[in-house]
Amino acid sequence: MTLTVTPLDPTDRQTLDAVHRIACAARAADEPDLPDPCRRRFEAPLWHPMPGIDTRWLVARLDGSPVGWLRLYLHTIDNTENASVELTVDPAYRRRGIGRTLHEHGVRLLREHDGKRLVGATVAALPGEEGRTFPGAAFAAAMGAKPALSDVRRRLDVAGLDRDRLSALLAEARAAATGYRPVRWRDHTPEEYVADVAYLEGRLLLDAPMGELDWEPEQMDAARVREAERALDARGVRRYNTGAVHEATGRLVGWTQLSLDAGSTDHAWQQITLVDPGHRGHRLGLLCKAGNLAYALAHEPALRAVDTWNAAANRHMIAINDQLGFRPAAGSVDWQLTI
Ligand SMILES: CC(C)(COP(=O)(O)OP(=O)(O)OC[C@H]1O[C@@H](n2cnc3c(N)ncnc32)[C@H](O)[C@@H]1OP(=O)(O)O)[C@@H](O)C(=O)NCCC(=O)NCCS
Repeated sequence: MTLTVTPLDPTDRQTLDAVHRIACAARAADEPDLPDPCRRRFEAPLWHPMPGIDTRWLVARLDGSPVGWLRLYLHTIDNTENASVELTVDPAYRRRGIGRTLHEHGVRLLREHDGKRLVGATVAALPGEEGRTFPGAAFAAAMGAKPALSDVRRRLDVAGLDRDRLSALLAEARAAATGYRPVRWRDHTPEEYVADVAYLEGRLLLDAPMGELDWEPEQMDAARVREAERALDARGVRRYNTGAVHEATGRLVGWTQLSLDAGSTDHAWQQITLVDPGHRGHRLGLLCKAGNLAYALAHEPALRAVDTWNAAANRHMIAINDQLGFRPAAGSVDWQLTI
């Protein structure tokens, strides 16, 4: 049998169908409690790139049929020596060296772009979970990558959500947050807050635990926020946002976002939550997060599950998620390979 690796041709619908099918099969094998990857989001790097990301997409074929793919995300604004990577092999064709061959092509591509580091995430054991093999983690270790950051995916089961408790938490946060007022918006940041959103988003990688990852904070500004919003619009992603405004200055000093992929009504992703360091200790994280959950639930009556990732060391964020009813669902590791 002949194995070939070639760049994906964006006009080749048949191959796009096949690589998406592989992504769905891998999801069902590796993280079966998550929904299939959204097709529109999956293809979007080809048509609507996120600002600062140049995606290279390779397809592995066995005797002409797609059996795996690799996406290399080259960073063009910040972290220009780093590339994020996604590598997926059809579960029916694993342990035949296809992953290794794709990886070698990815490393070659990274070298051509003067990159120094590859970073990729895999499913892994939850803290204390023993006796299971995780193919992605075993593969990353075999490729010489080092575990750089441990995360835990937590899930909120909406059916089990105690709505009275959510209201009580919100009331408690409001009482502690004197001098701040909550604000909400859907997809597009109101113009008056866009610079503050850029500032908060830029702080994320500075403030969240990053373990051993060599990753610098992202250079965010209002234009990049707007460009990212346009890219998310093109993916059909619905966003719910709640922020905390410091009344004395009018600045947005806390912010959280929850999103649903196009076509998804029952599943959401809890995205960023960040409070500016000078305004911590006023329960603004809880104010934003509990308020935003109530906001999303009011507009998304079919919502059943919300997933979020936290660094295992992110004590404060985890405490808030615990209070809201999020529970550990799976471990995850960010691997780094210096080439
Ligand atoms: C990880 C993945 C890409 C591996 O693909 P693959 O084609 O099976 O990998 P290979 O056959 O090239 O394996 C290379 C080496 O990795 C290790 N490895 C891969 N899968 C393994 C498993 N299930 N258990 C133990 N070791 C494993 C082995 O050392 C293997 O070499 P060997 O077969 O000679 O012992 C595939 O399992 C996958 O798509 N997983 C889901 C997505 C993911 O986690 N991607 C990785 C990071 S972005």
